[in-house]
Amino acid sequence: MVLQKVLKMNSALNHPRRIEQIVKGIATSDGAGVKLTRVLTQDLQRRLDPFLMLDVFRSDEPTDYLAGFPDHPHRGFETATYMLSGRLRHRDSAGHEGLLEGGDVQWMTAGSGVIHSEIPEQENGLMEGFQLWLNLPSSRKMTIPRYRDIPNSEIPRYSTSQHATVLVIAGDSNGVKGAITREETEPLYLDIQLAKGGEFSTRVPPGHNAFIYVYRGSVEIGGKTIDEKRMGIFGNDAHADGISIGAEGGARAILVAGRPLGEPIVQHGPFVMNRQEEIYQAILDFREGRFAGAELAAI
Ligand code: CO
Repeated sequence: MVLQKVLKMNSALNHPRRIEQIVKGIATSDGAGVKLTRVLTQDLQRRLDPFLMLDVFRSDEPTDYLAGFPDHPHRGFETATYMLSGRLRHRDSAGHEGLLEGGDVQWMTAGSGVIHSEIPEQENGLMEGFQLWLNLPSSRKMTIPRYRDIPNSEIPRYSTSQHATVLVIAGDSNGVKGAITREETEPLYLDIQLAKGGEFSTRVPPGHNAFIYVYRGSVEIGGKTIDEKRMGIFGNDAHADGISIGAEGGARAILVAGRPLGEPIVQHGPFVMNRQEEIYQAILDFREGRFAGAELAAI
């Protein structure tokens, strides 16, 4: 069990960031026909560098999710899968497997290449969660693939005197270090629960790109309301010292931020590299069976 810290929050930030754009996302399907909402789409990859994609799935209709994501490859980035409800079984080409449920997180570094499947292990009930893609710097795109399953009970968390409860999946928030840290992009990934009238703030460097996705209720940020199922993209005002949110009626949201890589992004489906030639190489390596994942390390 993780010790839950209770922080006494000082006053709000001096210059909290403003919301620059509100995004609805696009209903789509992926894998073998899983219905989902793609909130961070390819046209936002440059704006939200180093993040490449955010998929949200939430359905209690089994035909929307049962088929899952059968064997498929990845190369050149990391995936973070956060399962709020439901059970998701993953298996990879090196014979590793794991089960995500009830708030568990899987953080996978695809690196030079993995082939894996992600299949629901339930025939009814609610399936809800997020998959976020985080880019790797060019120097680490071909790193050894590895992954970590992080049980919900091991995700660091804290609550505040302003009625916020926060899970720190990645990064550092109000002095609480998350389950995952990355030097190059310093990703921050928080799940924030606000009770009625709750308020929350955290410091984020102005140069880091940041967004929030509200999945219950609605939040207020600098006079703007962000409703349920909407993403708000924060501006990068050079004077801003962080992010401040409030929720009159209570809310739940994920907050994601990171330092941009500023490198070229070339994506072809599940391969994200810097140059087109590297994409051709990825396709060739996959076709010729060089994505064996034999070195895949479970850490
Ligand atoms: Co996958």
